Amino acid sequence: MNINKNTLESSVKILSVAPMLDWTDRHCRHFLRLICPSCVLYTEMLTTNALLLGRDPQRFLEYSAAENPLILQVGGDDPAAMRRVSRLAKEYQYDGINLNVGCPSPRVQKGSFGACLMATPELVAELMAGLSDSALPVSVKHRLGLDREEDFASLHQFVEIVAQSGCQHFIVHARNAWLKGLNPAENREIPPLRWDWVHRLKSDFPHLRIEVNGGFKTTETVLDQFAHVDGVMIGRAAYHNPMFLAEVEMVLDRRGQLPDRSVVLEQLLAYAENWGEALPAPRLSRHLHGLYFGVTGAGEWRRFLGTATVNENAAEFLRRAMQHIEKMDQAST
Ligand SMILES: Cc1cc2nc3c(=O)[nH]c(=O)nc-3n(C[C@H](O)[C@H](O)[C@H](O)COP(=O)(O)O)c2cc1C
Repeated sequence: MNINKNTLESSVKILSVAPMLDWTDRHCRHFLRLICPSCVLYTEMLTTNALLLGRDPQRFLEYSAAENPLILQVGGDDPAAMRRVSRLAKEYQYDGINLNVGCPSPRVQKGSFGACLMATPELVAELMAGLSDSALPVSVKHRLGLDREEDFASLHQFVEIVAQSGCQHFIVHARNAWLKGLNPAENREIPPLRWDWVHRLKSDFPHLRIEVNGGFKTTETVLDQFAHVDGVMIGRAAYHNPMFLAEVEMVLDRRGQLPDRSVVLEQLLAYAENWGEALPAPRLSRHLHGLYFGVTGAGEWRRFLGTATVNENAAEFLRRAMQHIEKMDQAST
């Protein structure tokens, strides 16, 4: 089943791949789309400054049509800038815009956006109203709360106030963000996960689309969430083992079998050929480490990826990769 634009506004359960800075760039997204036709993809977080004042915003905004449905994730704290970004997103035919209210990095804190916006739901509502300017669907990706405060009532109030802007889709990374004392990677591991708080949000706000994120690594746990909420967003597990997404599609009855890895590589080759010299091998190969995750030859595949250099383009590299896999297959039979 392919998910089209209308799906984003329908009652179909959402499976999405989390925005991940430096990871989910356009080449990674194209690769993931080949494996998982039904998932919603997100860009990495792009700041309003980079999009509106940067030298080359086009470089960040362009993508291949295969990536749709694709959501632009933005970071910032200025409602007027959000209005302008909203129009840009429309111009570039994104399927929606998402506001980052979850990033705890010191750089983002310095800019007063990301997770620290959890403390100012009224401002988030204004930002969402700005993002709604072009009438694209909008969503917010947020945490349960800040630092050590464990207070469901504050989370409830956050969603209630932001929903007054018209925003109807909330993606909840189900743990707090600790602004002091933890780096971003620790902030994805140490604050405890509470999926049940996200379920409570859904029962408090049944008319809103509530999607849960954080810590999903097995098809069973993902499937279980669909009994409680409208969607599941998967981050690291999707990057490290992209076939996991196809496995989830299978348990959701969206496909009959897993994709053939060599067919994925052939399709990727067609993509790389279109890019030609403009796509040096490492810019694509770096996203392919997880393709053989958990199967025989995974280590050999990763070692082979290490041979990619800027002296060849991605298409040349992929042809070499396919020959290498053929040899590996022959050696194992
Ligand atoms: C390398 C990396 C970069 C990330 N960048 C972003 C980002 O740009 N925007 C965002 O909202 N979250 C970002 N995150 C957080 C993820 O979107 C997600 O919320 C988090 O990893 C928890 O989900 P998971 O346990 O399925 O990985 C990033 C995570 C990783 C690992």
